Amino acid sequence: MTDRFSFTLLKTDGGARRGRIDMPRGTIRTPAFMPVGTAGTVKAMYPGQVRELGADIILGNTYHLMLRPGAERVAKLGGLHVFANWPHPILTDSGGFQVMSLAQLRKLDENGVTFQSHIDGRRYEMTPERSVEIQGLLDSDIQMQLDECVALPAEEKEIERAMQLSLRWAERSKAAFGDQPGKAIFGIVQGGDNERLRGESASALAAMDFKGYSIGGLAVGEPQAVMLRILEMTTPILPREKPRYLMGVGTPEDIIESVARGVDMFDCVMPTRAGRHGLAFTRFGKVNLKNARHAEDHRPLDESSDCPASRDYSRAYLHHLFKSGETLAAMLLTWNNLAYYQSLMAGIRAAIDEDRFEKFRQTTKAGWARGDI
Ligand code: GUN
Repeated sequence: MTDRFSFTLLKTDGGARRGRIDMPRGTIRTPAFMPVGTAGTVKAMYPGQVRELGADIILGNTYHLMLRPGAERVAKLGGLHVFANWPHPILTDSGGFQVMSLAQLRKLDENGVTFQSHIDGRRYEMTPERSVEIQGLLDSDIQMQLDECVALPAEEKEIERAMQLSLRWAERSKAAFGDQPGKAIFGIVQGGDNERLRGESASALAAMDFKGYSIGGLAVGEPQAVMLRILEMTTPILPREKPRYLMGVGTPEDIIESVARGVDMFDCVMPTRAGRHGLAFTRFGKVNLKNARHAEDHRPLDESSDCPASRDYSRAYLHHLFKSGETLAAMLLTWNNLAYYQSLMAGIRAAIDEDRFEKFRQTTKAGWARGDI
């Protein structure tokens, strides 16, 4: 056990990196996938189950938790780890991104953003300082700076304005966070699909000496090739000895391609949200269990999986559960999907350890391309 936050780069294989984050609440093996627990719950999963699948850390959302049940209340109840029965590390997003996608009547200026709750219409103000304070009340282990992310496509001028504002907010967020040896706050690279702006953002943040770096503003409407080009030019600018987190990404293919370009951490609602809507991720690609072709299919999703959800229930039964609107449908597919994502990450880590990442990337992609036959 350690009382300090630290990142150790254990090994590289081409552009891919194997590492480890050590912090008081535990160790994060990287490359890592962080299941999304927006409102203090990874939807349709017990915390113990999430842990058993191999998650070292989950994500929580400042925006949702400040509105309900309120950050001060979570603090009073012992912090998010106690409240949600997840004693392991938690990363929190800063709120800006969710304000922009969910809140009403938003007004953004130099100081921060004011908005109305999407739940009850109450007015709130979010500044870099208040975001850090809320993330502190939640007792987050890895905080994010407040930033502004623009949806793509967007005008260069608009991307530049948001990127520069995010840099000023990075300074303020870091100052508000201060010196907390066991915890970390990450700066967030912005700059849209513009290589010059991405370069400026990454260099300026690197000079501020954050303990880790997030790459934001991607998977927001641009083609995958654009995202990968931006990653390819951004990661070499970031300090080699600090962790890199690609926010809100992505599909299994996005993840494996981003690992190849030097990303260490990921989060995405894809496995959980898609699971609740009937979409299963497997070694042989995606399976839509709402489709009538599964109505009499005896086969499980993956008979060779260690996960009971993938191995012990027929596709016909899963199809029936979705058709009937049963709660167990969402539970089983979320379980299957998170099991698949975590096994993908374990496979990636083992491949980098053993200098066979490129082979793993090719065979894994060939499996998805083979399809579900
Ligand atoms: N989640 C996905 N993308 C982003 C981003 O650009 N900023 C923040 N704060 N969160 C995100």
